[in-house]
Parts: sequence; C-alpha cells; structure tokens
Amino acid sequence: MSHDPFLAMYRRSLDDPEEFWASAAADIDWAKPWDTVVDPSALPAARWFVGGELNTCYNAVDRHVDGGRAEQAALIYDSATTGEVRTFTYRELRDQVALFAGVLSAHGVGRGDRVIIYMPMIPQAVIAMLACARIGAVHSVVFGGFASKELAVRIDDCQANVVVTASCGIEVDRIIEYKPLLDAAIDMTASQPEHCIVFQRPMVSADLQVGRDYDWEEEMAVATPHDCVDVLATDPLYILYTSGTTGQPKGIVRDNGGHAVALKWTMGSVYDVRPGEVYWAASDIGWVVGHSYIVYGPLLHGATTVLYEGKPVGTPDAGAFWRVIAQHGVASMFTAPTALRAIRQRDPEGTLIQGYDLSRFRSLFLAGERCDPDTLAWAEEQLRVPVIDHWWQTETGWAIAASCLGIDEPDVVPGSPGRPAPGWDLVALGPDGRQLPPGDVGALCARLPMPPSALYTLWNAEERFVETYLSKYPGFYETSDAGFIDDSGYVHVMARTDDIINVAGHRLSTGALEEVLTSHPDVAECAVVGVADQLKGQLPVGFVVLKVGAAGSDDEVASDVVALVRTAIGPVASFKSAVVVARLPKTRSGKILRGTIAQIADDEPWTMPATVDDPVIFEEISEALSTMGYPRLAD
Ligand code: COA
Ligand code: AMP
Repeated sequence: MSHDPFLAMYRRSLDDPEEFWASAAADIDWAKPWDTVVDPSALPAARWFVGGELNTCYNAVDRHVDGGRAEQAALIYDSATTGEVRTFTYRELRDQVALFAGVLSAHGVGRGDRVIIYMPMIPQAVIAMLACARIGAVHSVVFGGFASKELAVRIDDCQANVVVTASCGIEVDRIIEYKPLLDAAIDMTASQPEHCIVFQRPMVSADLQVGRDYDWEEEMAVATPHDCVDVLATDPLYILYTSGTTGQPKGIVRDNGGHAVALKWTMGSVYDVRPGEVYWAASDIGWVVGHSYIVYGPLLHGATTVLYEGKPVGTPDAGAFWRVIAQHGVASMFTAPTALRAIRQRDPEGTLIQGYDLSRFRSLFLAGERCDPDTLAWAEEQLRVPVIDHWWQTETGWAIAASCLGIDEPDVVPGSPGRPAPGWDLVALGPDGRQLPPGDVGALCARLPMPPSALYTLWNAEERFVETYLSKYPGFYETSDAGFIDDSGYVHVMARTDDIINVAGHRLSTGALEEVLTSHPDVAECAVVGVADQLKGQLPVGFVVLKVGAAGSDDEVASDVVALVRTAIGPVASFKSAVVVARLPKTRSGKILRGTIAQIADDEPWTMPATVDDPVIFEEISEALSTMGYPRLAD
C-alpha cells in the first residue's frame, strides 16, 4: 500500500492525542508548563493543557518582537472603502496593543472581565481584541451588521462593563453610524456598561456622553503601556455569540491554551503558510473566521495578516480581491464561496484577474457554506492554484475537515470539504446512535474529546451546552450538520439538522426570525424558511398569518415585518421577502412543514406529507411564492 502522509498523521492524532498535541504545544511559549495535556473527564467537556499558564497576546505579538520579527509587517490594513493602506510592524502593533491594554486597565478592566467590541474592519478592532487578551480579559466581538437589540442581548448576556466601538463603518459608499446603534442598545440593557471607548473616524464624529463615553485617541495619549498577564490555559479568551434555535444567541467560549496550540498548528499544517508570509482571510472580525484567521492564527504564526475593509465586488469592482493579493504579496487566502459567486457574476471570464500579478499566490481556501463544484471549478480555472473547500463551525474554531496542504499534496474531491482533519474522530450516526456505513447520510458527529480549541461550554449556559451538543449522541459532539463519509474517507456535508440557514456564509436562525415576525401585533403565526439563492446560497422568506381584525393590510404587514427584522436583527439577515397567507401547512400534530415549503420554493420534487391536514394549502403557498417570484429558476 502506498504511503499516505496525511493518513499517517491523522492516525497518530487519534491514537495518541496527548503526544500529538503536546508536540504541537511546543511551538507556543508557556509561562508555566501544563500538568495534564488533556483531561477528558472534565465537565461539561474535556479541557486541554490543564495547569499550564501563558498569555495569548504575548504569543501573538511580543514573542515575535523579542524573536527577531520586530520590523516585519504584522498587519496590513487595506481599506477599499477609504483608499487607506497602512502597515503595522510587530513592534508597532505591540506598542499600540500595550497602550490600549493600559486604557482598558485604567477603566477598571481586569482578568476575567468581559469587553464588548462593536467595530468595523479597522486596525483598532484588532488592537482592542489583543489588548483584552493581554490583560486576561474576555472579549466578545459583535458583528457590525447586527442591530441594537442583538447588541443589547450580547452585552447583557456576558455582563460587559466596557464597550469599545468606532464612530462609523462604511458599507461600500454608505456610512453606518455605530454610536447611535450602541446608545440604543445600552438603553435596552439591564446591565448598563460603565464605560464606552469610541474611536472617532474622520468621516463621522460621534457624540460622547460625559462620564460614560471616552475618546480612543485621548485615552491612548495618557495611557501607560500594560504588560502581558499570565492566565491559565483553561481560562476563557473570548466569547463569540452565534445563532441558536431561539432569539437568545449561544455564547461560544474559547480557552487560551488549546486555542493557541491548535491555531498555530493549523497555519503550517492546514494552510501551508510559513512565518513571514502574507495570509489573508477576507472575512470580518465579527465572525469566527475573522477571530481565527484574521487575528489569532496568522499572528501566532509570525505571519503577516491582511485586514481588508471592503467587499468582493463594488469596492470598486470585481477585481478587488486580485488587487489585494497582488499588492500585498498574499501567499494564501480564505473566503466564502458566496464571495466567489459574486465576483463570477460580474466578471465571468475572469478578465480582471489578468491585470494583476498573482505569482506569489499559492492557495485559496473556502468555508462558511458548501462550495458547489461549479464555483470550485471556475476558481481553479481562473486562479490556477489549489482551491480547497474546508468545513468548520464557530463552535470548533478551526477545520473539522480539510485537505491539509501542509501535510500532503492537495486532494480535492469536488463537493466534499476533504477528509476529517487530525484530531477529529468524525462519524455519521443514524437515529439510533449507531455508526453508519460509508455513503449513508446521518448526523455528523465527533467522538469526544474534541481536539484543542473546540468550545468547552456556552457562556452562562452549561446546561444548554450539554443539551444542544452532547445529549442526543452520548460520547459524541453533534455538529448539527447532516452528511456522509464516503468509501475513501471524504466527508460530504449536506444540510443542517436544525433550523439554521446559511445566508452569504452567515448563520441565521429561522426560529429567531420567526420570534421577530410574531412580535408584530397583527401577526397570529408565521414560518420563515430558507430558499435557494444563486448568490447568497440561501435567503430567508417569511409567511405570515394575520390575526382576525388585523389593523394593517396584507401589504402593510408584509413590509412592516421586513422592516422589523432589519431593526431587531440587522441588515445582515438579508430578510427582504414576506407574504401574508391565509394559513400555514401543518401536520395533524401542528408541526409547520417548513421543509416542504422550501422544496416548493426551490422547485424541487416534493411529496404531499401523509399527515397533512388539508392539501389545498400547498396550492395557496405556491401562489404566495409566485407573487414573490419563486421558484426562481437558474438563469
Ligand atoms: N455593518 C453594517 N451593515 C452591514 C455590514 C456591516 N458590517 N455587513 C453587511 N451589512 C449590510 C449590507 O450593507 C447589506 O445591507 P442592504 O440590505 O442595505 O444592502 C446587508 O447587510 C446584507 O449584507 P451582505 O450579505 O454582505 O450582502 P451584500 O449584498 O452587501 O453583499 C456579498 C453580497 C456576497 C458580496 C457579501 O455577502 C459577501 O462578501 N459575502 C462574503 C461573506 C463572508 O466573507 N463570510 C464570512 C464567512 S467565512
Ligand atoms: P458558522 O458557525 O457561522 O461558521 O457556520 C457553520 C456552519 O456553516 C456549519 O455547521 C455548516 O452548516 C456550514 N458550513 C461551513 N463550512 C462549510 C463547508 N465547507 N461545507 C458545508 N457547510 C459548511
């Protein structure tokens, strides 16, 4: 049998995880070595590097200054929206982070305290994250496309004392003022944060409330640099909220030690990037990809990271990504398939690519949603580098399945994100909990313990953590993705098993959207389903049933609920279609048949469920869909 280097490493990671991850941990600087590599019996989930002490910011920044990379670029800020390009060396980044850590400390933030960061894609956001890590505080970044209510829920859940924000973000050519959104959020919170630190961008000057709000620059001017504080490997580094099945988001908690070890390891092994090279994740710091691969991964590795403020198209054109790769000598890039679809729509022949020198570009990684083989083939043909789909989740923090370029040659199977990555003992389980044979679709689950950097609880919600992820299949972590593993060991991710839909690589809960719709006084009940969209993968569509004697007309209520979602959840929900229907299709037991509605919308074959009450309802739903232009057949 021919030697398969990937398989050899994969086996090693499962046969002797302690040896495998202890050897990876040697690439991290520890203030105190760990006593136990992994404690699989810890509750509610395994803990890594127990007893060890380190500082994540030290490993991401100071260590490189001390180790000969002081003058190397750590971060390149490239704003396609303002035209500004600014490079921070590791020394400059260290100095800024140490000063801002001093600012936080002066505002009473210490080890274990929570800080909300609600910022656009500017260097100050990264500085704020690293400054929290420096003093052992726990950051929670909230994506700028979320509205005040979502921000308020997060502030309250993690009981943040300090919020860091900026005066505005820029969406292509539209200024989004952040401070009024923050002020409205604070008005809604029960646990009023004591201080807000506001970075004033030149386009907008935010009003500051005396005694509560402070100007970033003024605070930095009088701050004393703060040194790194050693924390336990098992102490939390950050909380990142993600969609759950209700309006209450789940606070994914990541530790310091396991996170640093796993992310540093992935930079070489998964992405095949060397220290000193330029790596670019075109995501947002509000998402897990931004945490792992704009901020922590590349910096822990001593690489140069690119912070891109812009879009794949429209800032100014569909050549923006290729311009950034060429201008900054990017070796490897990470984006979502939806971004490639947007580029392809505008530049199908890849004409704009020809204008750029991509000779240093070696690989493109994709995640966030399944990459359709057509988009994959287009990207391969245009870019002539390996295009790697890899599968992961906010919960895992890094790839569960990937073609690991640093371990072996690329092995791309279109439609599959590759084989399970080292450390991930992945299986497809049937409803009875038994492991399914290759090719059979089941619940994709990882045998416990999960490798380092995976979540170990939900903030303030340990029971919910156990119930959501560990209860249905004892001994396994349930990913909530359905799929199968084929004969050759390649994973195929098919669909979510919960009510989460994937809109432009962003995760949205239809349950949370429905909660907003039912808050309208005229709405008796509703259903939100994810329908296929050529650009964004899926889009949410709402069906509402009005109360008897509703005050608004059908059209009024439909446009009201669209507006409600924009203010309650935010523009990121891309919720633009709602329609009033007389009733919703349900089973006799009252379960709304969302899946069948989606099949009708997508023009997929569907069968009338045997348990349905009244078959005529489906005709009404088809009519309602056609008023909104569904099914939308491919052009
Ligand atoms: N602050 C405020 N508003 C924001 C925002 C932010 N940070 N990010 C997005 N929005 C708004 C947009 O302006 C848009 O508003 P609109 O309804 O008024 O047009 C809405 O939220 C939806 O945004 P988006 O999904 O980005 O749609 P788009 O039509 O502007 O762009 C794509 C489409 C495909 C170009 C875009 O979705 C994209 O770049 N996707 C890549 C996603 C990605 O990288 N995901 C990370 C996972 S790896
Ligand atoms: P998020 O937590 O926002 O990163 O979303 C995670 C979810 O996105 C996963 O559970 C999948 O449903 C989906 N996803 C992410 N990457 C992929 C991929 N490469 N292939 C298929 N689905 C993916």
